Amino acid sequence: MERRHGWKVEPEWISTTHGIVNAVNLIVQAFCEPGDKVVVQSPVYYPFFGAVTNNRCELVHNRLAKAGERYIMDLDSLARQMDERTRLLILCSPHNPGGRVRNREEMTALAELCLSRGVLMVSDEIHHDLVYQGNTHTVLASLGPEVARRTITTTSASKTFNLAGTMTGNVIIGDGSLSRRFKLQAARCGITMPNSFGPLAAAAAYDHGEPWLKELLTYLKGNHDRVMEVVDREMPGVTSMPLEGTYLAWLDFSGTGLSMDEIVRRVQEDARLALNHGRTFGPGGELHMRLNFACPRSMLENALERLVAAFKS
Ligand SMILES: Cc1ncc(COP(=O)(O)O)c(C=O)c1O
Repeated sequence: MERRHGWKVEPEWISTTHGIVNAVNLIVQAFCEPGDKVVVQSPVYYPFFGAVTNNRCELVHNRLAKAGERYIMDLDSLARQMDERTRLLILCSPHNPGGRVRNREEMTALAELCLSRGVLMVSDEIHHDLVYQGNTHTVLASLGPEVARRTITTTSASKTFNLAGTMTGNVIIGDGSLSRRFKLQAARCGITMPNSFGPLAAAAAYDHGEPWLKELLTYLKGNHDRVMEVVDREMPGVTSMPLEGTYLAWLDFSGTGLSMDEIVRRVQEDARLALNHGRTFGPGGELHMRLNFACPRSMLENALERLVAAFKS
């Protein structure tokens, strides 16, 4: 974290959970009362929604806006949406599904707004090592001591090194009182120890995986560019958002004039592909599908061929 992202983490700041979805649920339980409002910036990684509503809090969708082809945060509407019941904001950075690696100015503006309204920030940075050349990931908590005191950072080796099956995540909290409160909630749920394999796998990945990661990023960028090229050239009415990080192509079918049901039918029944349905990512996800291209190039080529054929007419 220090070498790659310039943020020095003390070991005692880290709690280990059974993955990040587990962590986000525990965070909502630890810091919110039923009825409190929790903001997410949609379209976004959908398990955040259940973490809010299953813990009897109110989900507030702060819709992302677009600048050209990329998503940007709409802080004016966020300021209007926040009130005295707003307890938490869950940020997804780098952004899934839009692939944005937000810059320092954007992160600073968001942090200033949250601090001024007393809103605690959860920064899910699980994709922080999957950033393409030319982009720099900003750790929200590294923006300064005031921000660090009000930020909970989540990371994991699981995305970068394909270790999601080991169900192990890091919750990083620099502030002592927030950390105690989080640990108490984890203990209440009997989560005091990780499974035996996750930390070993994570340590092996972090200690020995960096040369592999470097190659991986070049390979993924090649896959990303290939998706963009094929969609641009061979799928009229469809666009793929240019990504700054992550391996998740966000395909917008709105220019095809087809309904969501027909888009899903063609993807699943004609192309026989398993993509994520855009609407599950919340408002703004309509008429989109998400394609995971963290796979061998040959598999991607095959998938793209089938996709192009399914939308030929
Ligand atoms: C933003 C984000 N957070 C969390 C997760 C999942 O984390 P875990 O498998 O550790 O629960 C994902 C997986 O796709 C993700 O994209």
